[in-house]
Amino acid sequence: MTRGNLSSEFLDEVRSKNDIVDIASKYMTLNRRGGNFWACCPFHSEKTPSFSIKQDAQFYKCFGCGESGNVISLVMKMENVDFYTAVEILAKSAGLEMPTEADNAEMAKRKRDRDIAYQIMRATTEFYQDNLKNAPDSPQAQYLKKRGINAEMIEKFKIGASLNFDDLPKHLTKLGFKLDDMIMAGVVARGDYRVYDFYGKRLIFSICNGFGDVVAFSGRSVVESPDRTKYKNTPQSVIFNKSEILFGFNYVRDLKKQNLGLDTIVIVEGHIDVISCHQVGITNTIGCMGTALTTQHARRIKQLVENVILCLDGDSAGANATYKAIDVLKDAGLNVRVVRLEGAKDPDEFIKKFGKANFLDKLSTAIDCVDFVLTDSAKKYDLNSNAGKTKYIKEALNYISKFSTPAEQEIYLSLVQRLVKIPIDALRKSLNTLGHKEVKSKEPEQNVDMVQETLNDNYITESKIMLLSAVLYKKIDNLDEIEILFKGNDELSRLYNYLKQKLNENKEYNVSSLFDNFEINNNSLIDKVINYSFPADDVFANGIKETIARVKLYEIQQEREKLTKAMSQATSSEEKMQYLVKLKELTDLYYKEKK
Ligand code: GTP
Ligand code: MN
Repeated sequence: MTRGNLSSEFLDEVRSKNDIVDIASKYMTLNRRGGNFWACCPFHSEKTPSFSIKQDAQFYKCFGCGESGNVISLVMKMENVDFYTAVEILAKSAGLEMPTEADNAEMAKRKRDRDIAYQIMRATTEFYQDNLKNAPDSPQAQYLKKRGINAEMIEKFKIGASLNFDDLPKHLTKLGFKLDDMIMAGVVARGDYRVYDFYGKRLIFSICNGFGDVVAFSGRSVVESPDRTKYKNTPQSVIFNKSEILFGFNYVRDLKKQNLGLDTIVIVEGHIDVISCHQVGITNTIGCMGTALTTQHARRIKQLVENVILCLDGDSAGANATYKAIDVLKDAGLNVRVVRLEGAKDPDEFIKKFGKANFLDKLSTAIDCVDFVLTDSAKKYDLNSNAGKTKYIKEALNYISKFSTPAEQEIYLSLVQRLVKIPIDALRKSLNTLGHKEVKSKEPEQNVDMVQETLNDNYITESKIMLLSAVLYKKIDNLDEIEILFKGNDELSRLYNYLKQKLNENKEYNVSSLFDNFEINNNSLIDKVINYSFPADDVFANGIKETIARVKLYEIQQEREKLTKAMSQATSSEEKMQYLVKLKELTDLYYKEKK
């Protein structure tokens, strides 16, 4: 079913303004019976009506031939037209303007803006690069020399210079660019009396997207002056989203493409740190440009590697940034290790002072991030005093409880134990009183009495249909409660996710919208969901709780069986231990649910 450029919002509006009963009555004679409308089916020949319309849910179904759909598919079939034309007919009858023209114009403008912004960035980069080449005595060129940045790096990172405030806008105008577009791209600003180069008189670092196109600049001041900020960066624009872009990311991405076995990325703070690392051949380095790492940053990194080493500045700001970055990167599922520099404020200074070999040495001894947090925060306390120990244990256990896998907790507890010299069992107990599952190293009981009832897959499917139908018709609204049942990639799970997304976005959904989003025919489970008939409300309310509970228990049991089988094939005792821990968790969950 082609939807053209029609947004789901627009389709929702078209449907909500065209009652299916009104539209259908133009094509057939409807009779009200029970809660529904009935007619002889227009799609097959019959004498007794089996074509029904549910007005509240805005869909039709024929119990004779199985045809079903919403108001749009009805018009498609009755008028023998395609989806787009059917929507057009309905939009017209509801007095709605078709959005395509406007949409296309909007999209075209966005595309145009992006194209021009890229062109302006390219022209500006070349302009700055030429400036630097042609003015070897400029303060910018001198500064690069002083910082020891070589010609190869100047070329690689497209480093340039802005020599004054006026030349850039003049140059771009000569090339035919419009002032508004220069401002849009973020290279020129409008002052009270004139327009000027946004990065006037600064050293220019080019910031690229993943493909290596310049999307922004960082202009570094080369004069020490309290009234000049150290860096001026391009504001957010149609091509620059700073919560996605990382300095140097494109080069690391190239490494990955060359298949050189890239498995770790080093994250540093400053532009100059990145460049220094690359200059000595540590080319898997990227920079966060002084801003906090975002989830999007982390996701992009995760696309390339599993492991990162955080090597931020040695000052206290760098330490704080390290703690924050650990959370974000860990959340994205990365393995995070940490290096804290001593004797130098940042990687650039460290390399200059102690050399590449020592820096590589530092990187190779980077410690696991939780290790780092537990060890580092211990420094704040006097662990020889009881008061100090208590405070530290509290902080440490809180941190450990954030990391949920029991296996990990076990490792970290033993680390805390080494520091505070308190029996690990006591620590485990305290962790447990924080409200988290107790981790026992002894084996959990093997013969847990599991669901006795004979539940089978059929029962489960039927129950899931009932639950989804209840969500669909808004008889229950707590989707989280049943989430565990819909983790698969089957039709019903997809329906669950669709409904959940709509609810999360606070969007109205109705039954009829399903027909635009799912392939629904007479045999599909979704059809069963839509047509599920509920018993009386009170029976239903009780039944539903029970169903949720039973299905959950069943799924837990299935999972347990899978794990037990996998465990019997485990080769190492470490692996076996991991399965045991998981089994124990499921057993706990089972009893919790059964209560
Ligand atoms: P040096 O420390 O002199 O080697 O230069 P650096 O590039 O490493 O700068 P610094 O350590 O001061 O800051 C680290 C990063 O934070 C910089 O690379 C910038 O990305 C960012 N940053 C620093 N100062 C500013 C500022 O004034 N404004 C903005 N927007 N960002 C800044
Ligand atoms: Mn720095």
